Amino acid sequence: MRMVDLIAKKRDHIELTTEEIEWMIRNYTDKVIPDYQMSAFLMAVVFNGMTPAERLALTQAMVGSGEVVDLSAIEGIKVDKHSTGGVGDKTSLILGPLVASMGVPVAKMSGRGLGHTGGTLDKLESISGMTIELDMERFIEQVNEIKLAIIGQTGNLAPADKYLYALRDVTATVESIPLIASSIMSKKIAAGADAIVLDVKFGAGAFMKTLEDAKQLAQAMVEIGRDAQRQTVAFLTDMNQPLGLAIGNALEVKEAIETLKGHGPKDLEELVLQLASQMVVLAKKAPDVETAYEQLKEKLHRGEAFNKFKEFVQAQGGDVAQIENPDLLPKADSIIPVKASQSGYVHQIDALSIGLAAMKLGAGRATKDDMIDMAVGVVLDKKVGDSVGEGDVLAYIHANRVDNEEAIAYIQKAYCICKDPVCPPTLIYDVIA
Ligand code: URA
Repeated sequence: MRMVDLIAKKRDHIELTTEEIEWMIRNYTDKVIPDYQMSAFLMAVVFNGMTPAERLALTQAMVGSGEVVDLSAIEGIKVDKHSTGGVGDKTSLILGPLVASMGVPVAKMSGRGLGHTGGTLDKLESISGMTIELDMERFIEQVNEIKLAIIGQTGNLAPADKYLYALRDVTATVESIPLIASSIMSKKIAAGADAIVLDVKFGAGAFMKTLEDAKQLAQAMVEIGRDAQRQTVAFLTDMNQPLGLAIGNALEVKEAIETLKGHGPKDLEELVLQLASQMVVLAKKAPDVETAYEQLKEKLHRGEAFNKFKEFVQAQGGDVAQIENPDLLPKADSIIPVKASQSGYVHQIDALSIGLAAMKLGAGRATKDDMIDMAVGVVLDKKVGDSVGEGDVLAYIHANRVDNEEAIAYIQKAYCICKDPVCPPTLIYDVIA
C-alpha cells in the first residue's frame, strides 16, 4: 500500500476500505507516514468528507492505536458523558455525584482546560488536597465502593488521535465533522464506557457555531457509537451565553455545590437533570427519562447528590470542610462590578468574550504549561432576557491582578443590550438517539 494512492482516492471521492484506513493510522502512529502526506489526506477529508464506513474505520483504528481501558471489574453499566466544551460548563461536577447517587457507576476520565474553556480537573484541583491521579486498581475500587471517581486521562489512550489532532491544529484541518466525530468518539470508546451521553454545544462560545453543524456532528457521533456497539445519545445545547453564572475554577465549584443542594441557576440545573436522566436510563436504573428526571430531582433536593459529592471529595483526598463551607475555597482579593453603559434588555452574552475575560484574569491557560489562578473569574449578574438600567451591574470580576481593564472590556463587549424585550433562549434544542 502507498499513502500517495490513499490521498488520491480521497481526492477523487473514492471510498477507502477499512484495511486501508487501519494501515494508514498504524503507519502514521509508527511515524512511517510523514506529516506532509497526512496533512494532504486530512485536507482532502475537509473538502470531500468521509462515508459512515470510513468514519467508523477511522475511529476504530484510532482506538486500536493505544490502550483500551478495561472497566469490566466495575459492576453495572458504565455511562460516560462528554461535552464538546463551553464557557461555565461545570456539568460534570454535578452530574457525577447526582448520577452516582442513583447507583449508576461513574468512572470518569476528564481533561484540563485550554484556551477560553475550562476543564473539570482544574476545577476539582481548586479543592485543597484533591488528587486526580489514582492508579487503575484504586480507580476501579473507588467506583465499586462509592460509585464515583474522576481522574485525569491515564495511559496511552488513542495516541493516533493525539498526533492527528496536533497536526490538524497547525494545518487548518480541525473543522471537519467526520474528523471531529471520530476524534471525540475514539477517546470515549478507549476510556471504556458501555454507553455515552454527548452534550454538543453550538453558538458563539462553542466549537460548532450553528445548530445545523452541531446537528450533523451529533448525528455522526451517534452513528459511530451505535456501529461500535456503544449506545450513544446526543443533546444539542445552546452556548450563546455561558452556562449558569460562574466562570472560573473555584467559583464554578461553588456554583456546583449550590446546584447539588438544589439552589443552582435554573439553566444549569435543568441541563444537568436532562443529561443525568438519559444517563440513568442508559444504565437501566429507570424505565424512562420522565421517571429518571423525577427521581434525580428528589436526589438533588433531598441533599443525597450533595452527600455523594462530599464522599467523592473525601475519597480523593480533598478538604470536605471546603465543600460544607464554600467560603473556605480560594478567594480573590477584589470583587469588581462591571456596569451597563445603556439600558434595555440583554439579547446575547458572547460566551467566547466572557471566557477570554476569565482567561485575562488568570483563570485559564493560553498554553498547556501555564499556571492558573483558582480563585479568579467572572460571576454574571444578568443573563439573556433580563432587563437592565444604565449603571446596573452586569457581572462581577473576581480578580487578583491590579490591571483588569482588558477583562472588563471583554465583558462589556460580550453583552448585547437592545431596547426591545426578549425571551430567555431555549437551552436544549434536540436530543438525537
Ligand atoms: N475535540 C476533540 O477531542 N477533537 C476534535 O477534533 C475537536 C474537538
